[in-house]
Amino acid sequence: MANKQFDVVVIGGGPGGYVAAIRAAQLGFSTACVESESYADPKGEVRLGGTCLNVGCIPSKALLRSSELFDEANHAFVMHGISVENVKMDVPTMIRRKDNIVTQLTQGIKGLFKKNKVTLLPGRGSFAGRENERWQINVTARDGVGETVDAKHVIVATGSSPRHLDGIAVDNVTICDNVGALSLTEVPKRLGVIGAGVIGLELGSVWKRLGADVTILEALPDFLAAADPAIAKEAWKTFTQKQGLQIRLGVKINGVTPGKNGVTIGYESGEGAFSLDCDKLIVSVGRVPNTVGLGCDDVGLKLDERGRIAVDEHCRTNLENVWAVGDVIRGPMLAHKGMEEGVMVAERIAGQAGHVNYDAIPYVIYTHPEIAWVGKTETELKNAGIEYRSGQIPFLANGRALGQGDTTGFVKMLADAKTDRILGVHVIGANASELIAEAVVAMEFGAVAEDIARICHAHPTLSEVMHEAALAVDKRPLHF
Ligand code: FAD
Ligand code: NAI
Repeated sequence: MANKQFDVVVIGGGPGGYVAAIRAAQLGFSTACVESESYADPKGEVRLGGTCLNVGCIPSKALLRSSELFDEANHAFVMHGISVENVKMDVPTMIRRKDNIVTQLTQGIKGLFKKNKVTLLPGRGSFAGRENERWQINVTARDGVGETVDAKHVIVATGSSPRHLDGIAVDNVTICDNVGALSLTEVPKRLGVIGAGVIGLELGSVWKRLGADVTILEALPDFLAAADPAIAKEAWKTFTQKQGLQIRLGVKINGVTPGKNGVTIGYESGEGAFSLDCDKLIVSVGRVPNTVGLGCDDVGLKLDERGRIAVDEHCRTNLENVWAVGDVIRGPMLAHKGMEEGVMVAERIAGQAGHVNYDAIPYVIYTHPEIAWVGKTETELKNAGIEYRSGQIPFLANGRALGQGDTTGFVKMLADAKTDRILGVHVIGANASELIAEAVVAMEFGAVAEDIARICHAHPTLSEVMHEAALAVDKRPLHF
């Protein structure tokens, strides 16, 4: 019998794992969280928060903000009559600010663990077996020292890692995944990006605004294929024509050759074969679930066809009292999705009816303009043969947007043609990430477009565009 015994052991301290641990502890379970020391602070101590806090959501948003301010100082101040000369970017200061935010937030999670009495076990967690209906978990620290702990329930929240391409070795100096791309020490003159997904667009925008010449190479023939087609079209126009991001679609990468000061990417598209010289290259072609070394085979923990841990709608695996949440299972790789699953699982362990509504998970891309949506796209509705009505209102018709000097984009609402129930809401524009919350609440409450149309929205705010889009579903906008 292991020395340390817990009701719940969570493997992985990212958003899925640390939230599951906190909620389990709140519900009265003795809870431990094993975190593998992938991320360490300058003293070498383990950092919680996983990909999101250390090398994902938070640092990328910090850099996006710095680069937005630089861009505004250079291009937007002038319309307000403000003149600034010789605006300079000190990249090390920008990176230090980002690192400080990461330190603050990751330490904050440790504080939350203390407050909620969650035991942090630094080391790699793996299944050692099962005795007397309790799971044995090995925890192996970086120095090789290990211990075995025992738990009634195990929640696997080991997250994901960047997918790399065969023959393109990531060193995080010249060829970077998200880790290196968030810590460049200077603005590259020429930046290549493989993959025009979320990371490619967000980090491509950061370095473009700071002055890099950015070329993004995307395998698919369609841009932002998962987004609503009207949004993808507007985003394409804004990014390529107004912002100067060069995006090549339908590309096949033939190889990457290291040079004296960077790399040369060989690729072909419908237009022929090309080579692109870059000082730095970001590879952002999706992520793979972290299951290696967990001991899945040893205990018979089932994976699905894509190597993720197989779970049911409540995140139960095929093994009794073993659950899995976040990037390591099916569904979008989003921090808030993993967090909600963590809460659901802890509540299910407590015999409650924890639940995640996968139809109301918001998606956000933090480019400028931001892109955000919830629910179905027009393409999905057409493919499903669902009849719908659509209301679309541009920010150009909104006083606040004009006052802010930021009128790109629109809100588009899709509602069932017969019942008026909101089926999807799509926003491209400033503050889309915040505006989408209203649509998420509406969809969670099963609202119809008319509900939003009858709600009083503060004037002047960007949220009035959501209001007008709802009115436009019924062809009666007041200000457009
Ligand atoms: P992770 O955050 O990956 O955490 C898993 C943790 O488990 C890690 O700390 C790892 O060290 C640990 N671990 C792994 N194996 C073991 C083991 N055997 N034993 C112990 N510990 C282990 N999502 C958003 O919602 N919004 C965003 O704006 C956003 N921006 C992003 C930007 C970038 C650049 C990237 C890369 C991702 C971004 N994401 C964003 C995605 C988000 O980071 C992930 O969806 C989220 O972190 C997943 O949480 P998780 O807990 O499942 O896994
Ligand atoms: P992604 O799945 O968003 O995009 C990857 C892109 O690379 C796709 O467009 C794909 O077609 C393309 N691609 C794949 N193989 C290729 C190849 N060989 N050559 C050229 N293109 C290729 O993945 P990304 O950007 O790496 O991000 C990983 C995950 O992190 C995303 O799934 C997302 O959920 C999450 N994330 C979320 C953010 C947010 O919510 N704002 C921000 C950043 C990441």
